[in-house]
Amino acid sequence: MEYMSTAEIREKYLSYFEAKGCKRWPSSSLIPDDPSLLLTSAGMVQFKPYFLQQKQLEAPYVGTTTAQKCVRTNDIDIIGTTGRHLSFFEMLGNFSFGAYFKKEMCAWAYEFSTEVLGLPAERLYFTVYLDDDETIEIWKDLGVPEDHISRLGEEDNFWRAGPTGPCGPCSEIYYDQGEEFGCGSPDCAPGCDCDRFLEYWNLVFTQYDGQEDGSFVPLPKKNIDTGMGLERIAAIMQGVQSNYETDVLRSLVGVGERLTGAVYGADADADLSLRIMADHSRSVTFMIADGILPSNEGRGYVLRRLLRRAARHGRMLGISRPFLVELVETVIQSSESAYPELREHDAYIKKVIGTEEANFARTIDAGMNILNNMIDGLEKAHEHLLKGLDVFKLNDTFGFPLDLTKEIAAEQGIEIDEEGFHAEMTKQKERARAERLKKNISGWSEDLFGTLTAEPTEFVGYDTLKSDSVVVALSDEETLTDAIATDEQAKEGVLVVLDKTPFYAEMGGQAADHGVITGAECVLRVQDVKKTPKGYYVHTCTLESGIVHVGDHLTARVDKEYRMAIARNHTATHLLQAALREVLGDHVHQAGSYQDASITHFDFTHFSAVTPEELVRVQKIVNDKIFESMNVTVKEMPIEEAKKLGARALFGEKYGKVVRVVDIEGWSTEFCGGTHVKNTAQIGGFKIVSESSVAAGRRRHGPGLLRAGAPPRLR
Ligand code: GLY
Repeated sequence: MEYMSTAEIREKYLSYFEAKGCKRWPSSSLIPDDPSLLLTSAGMVQFKPYFLQQKQLEAPYVGTTTAQKCVRTNDIDIIGTTGRHLSFFEMLGNFSFGAYFKKEMCAWAYEFSTEVLGLPAERLYFTVYLDDDETIEIWKDLGVPEDHISRLGEEDNFWRAGPTGPCGPCSEIYYDQGEEFGCGSPDCAPGCDCDRFLEYWNLVFTQYDGQEDGSFVPLPKKNIDTGMGLERIAAIMQGVQSNYETDVLRSLVGVGERLTGAVYGADADADLSLRIMADHSRSVTFMIADGILPSNEGRGYVLRRLLRRAARHGRMLGISRPFLVELVETVIQSSESAYPELREHDAYIKKVIGTEEANFARTIDAGMNILNNMIDGLEKAHEHLLKGLDVFKLNDTFGFPLDLTKEIAAEQGIEIDEEGFHAEMTKQKERARAERLKKNISGWSEDLFGTLTAEPTEFVGYDTLKSDSVVVALSDEETLTDAIATDEQAKEGVLVVLDKTPFYAEMGGQAADHGVITGAECVLRVQDVKKTPKGYYVHTCTLESGIVHVGDHLTARVDKEYRMAIARNHTATHLLQAALREVLGDHVHQAGSYQDASITHFDFTHFSAVTPEELVRVQKIVNDKIFESMNVTVKEMPIEEAKKLGARALFGEKYGKVVRVVDIEGWSTEFCGGTHVKNTAQIGGFKIVSESSVAAGRRRHGPGLLRAGAPPRLR
């Protein structure tokens, strides 16, 4: 077989499946559109709605084919210790939603492997799920000898992306790297943990929808989901022993060698560090390009942990300054043709990584000293457990993610009290939550409306501030109920869902409308509105008088002045963003914002304090645009058309096919669902009241925060 570069394999795969009738589809973001998953970990993730028949693929395609960027984090500790585990990898896949199935798929996989890639058939091994005789017969019909086919159980040959959702039995294809790579055990066979049999392709026969109770409901159609690890197949095609010696990853190991003076292959400990630096620099680059920022929770935590693990390993090889940015440039160069978003955001990615690494660099030495002292103390006392409070302090004061402390401690034979650590974290979170609750008047949980089967609420508030609506559901914040009445006095915390509403729900950083809902028998004052994931607008009200029932016909009226005050702040925010870009540069992205009737807060990406002179210029530009009396127009259009207009999307946000675009005479054009004034003159005037870094007390990687206020009322 011939040497093939990673890029060539990717292209050959995608064009092969295109020729079979699959639509070439872009990789989805690493932030999945799926609350059950933290990160996109497989090619099938973006296609779940197609497997569930909630979406249909247009004719004449028989399926889709992708090169999907993936991050898997269930085994971060292993990464670097083997040649085949990576935290970031690309998955080549093809997907059928009821069109082709096992027979076609196996034939194509065999043809692609042996004819397109030219893999010698005698080196290929196939596993199937325990009782899947049908697939055994299919492989045999394709000429695979019986002793190259084996059955494996659920752990290897039943595939699922997460606890629930589309899943099914699978058949895996292995490449025999040769006996010399084996563990020597007489039982060594595909599925063994050693390096002899390398699994490079998984064919999943997606037949079930896994339920929360552990049961499997058959899907309406039989589907195909496949995943081929691009780096693994590249290792095979390039005749090298590990993923780290393939073209893309080897170039990163090379940067590590240059930075540290270490020589790959000369020393096992140094190799481990070089591998970790190479792999992790890819994950963090791609994650940040998709809008993830380092934080202490969720995917931001994964990013922080990977970044800090890589930084520590660089230090272990003697680099004493921040270095990751130098690896990032090579990551971008090697992957930008397939993933142009990397180059698009390169300055931003480097800033985030540089800042996060510099922050950690400031505390890592002090933290390592403290940790080493703690470990010495334990050893002297013949103890082996690091206290939860100590782990918490290392995290809180020195930025050591739990898992990093755990890994370092384990290197010295010390365990950590994870439970104690989590207890400390919970205490800290509870303190923060109590603070938040003080500010949030809505104390209900979204599950409350989980059983509702009515149509989602229709929002009519772009065109009108008043509607005749029907009550669809009522709740006292605890349970759903048919009617709520006042006692002697007004009743707070009455939740009302209407069939249609003019009230804007808090969304996209814009505060909810206020107003009243009235009927023959009741007066409800609306204080907050939230939209549930199923699309119900929940109005949090005070029932000022009377009684309200499900089914009542009521009149909903938005407070016009309040709406206008919010609109002034929202349009001012668009002007502010455009002005910031004009003054500070194109790297400025909105990272969060909030507008209510009195103020706008705007978080954005910028890595030094904005100077007073810059603030004055920004404020002047915004006021100039107000005085120019510019028209604000709102249009719905296909997303492609909006992009052509140069409309700015929120970084990392997903949009449907049709988007709403708010345009201020071409000077500012943004995707936005909010409510706006019709002309900038209606804003009246604009003043920046403060600017600061989001993290109180210390500078963080993160976005800056600008608080600015348009005057709430015109005078
Ligand atoms: N979805 C198939 C795999 O990840 O192996």
